[in-house]
Amino acid sequence: MKNNFKEINGVWFSPTGTTKKIVSAIVESIEKNIGENCELKKTSLTLPKEREDLLVYKSSDIVVLGVPVYAGRVPNILLKYLDTLEGNSAIGIPIVLYGNRNYDDALIELADIMREKGFKVVGAGAFIGEHSFSKILAKKRPNKDDIEKAKNFGLKISEKIKNMDRNVYTELKIKGNRPYRPYYRPKNIAGEFYDFRKIKPKTSDRCIDCKICVYLCPVGSIDLDDVSKINGICIKCGGCIKGCLTNAKYYDDENYLKHQHELEEEFQDRKEIEIFL
Ligand SMILES: Cc1cc2nc3c(=O)[nH]c(=O)nc-3n(C[C@H](O)[C@H](O)[C@H](O)COP(=O)(O)O)c2cc1C
Repeated sequence: MKNNFKEINGVWFSPTGTTKKIVSAIVESIEKNIGENCELKKTSLTLPKEREDLLVYKSSDIVVLGVPVYAGRVPNILLKYLDTLEGNSAIGIPIVLYGNRNYDDALIELADIMREKGFKVVGAGAFIGEHSFSKILAKKRPNKDDIEKAKNFGLKISEKIKNMDRNVYTELKIKGNRPYRPYYRPKNIAGEFYDFRKIKPKTSDRCIDCKICVYLCPVGSIDLDDVSKINGICIKCGGCIKGCLTNAKYYDDENYLKHQHELEEEFQDRKEIEIFL
């Protein structure tokens, strides 16, 4: 029996834009390959106001949901919001982007969330993006080759779901551990586990007060009147650092810099995309 799909949805949380690039390439490819009469919709969940509306899907929908890997897991600030998703038997494709260290249990966790919320998970992928903490670790990835692979993944998904019998759905096997491993914890310069949550970005005199950082912050923590002030939490997403037009945002915390340096040294070997179909 042929499946008729009505909507292809690309949904992402993506403070530095790598997840958005891969999810976009996948959904554009699905739109091209799945055939006529299917509407393409893209939804960002990056900013606080974008996480106010509920996302409710139908069985005629395809949903590609992408998040970055934070500490080997789904970013915990998203968990509450993801718990409000309503899959209603829509086709679900979980995607994670990671910064060349490891995606650990993030993909299996995201797939479990989607299943729990009523999606039929038929494919999944772990892709690589420039590390949020660095401009040299997985530098400029996803690159052209990664985008081609994402499009090819979209083609394979299209072929799989076109003629799939939804009544004989079997659980897709995805790499990862259950129970999930604990959040990956970096160490400080004394070699002890360290609470990175208290570290906040600084602002140099290169700042031209354009306010772009205020609008990029996914947790709305940068003060509009004084952009050097951080009012709330900082999730170290890299959004304000990489999005700043004059490179005025930076971290000078010695423990952050040590961790950044260690990642750049230890994880130089190029990682490759892994897909599950
Ligand atoms: C708080 C935090 C934790 C991260 N943890 C990991 C990790 O465990 N493994 C990894 O390889 N990359 C890790 N990264 C890097 C991001 O997963 C990666 O750079 C991703 O491409 C960023 O996605 P975005 O561009 O959509 O924001 C982490 C980034 C942040 C901000």
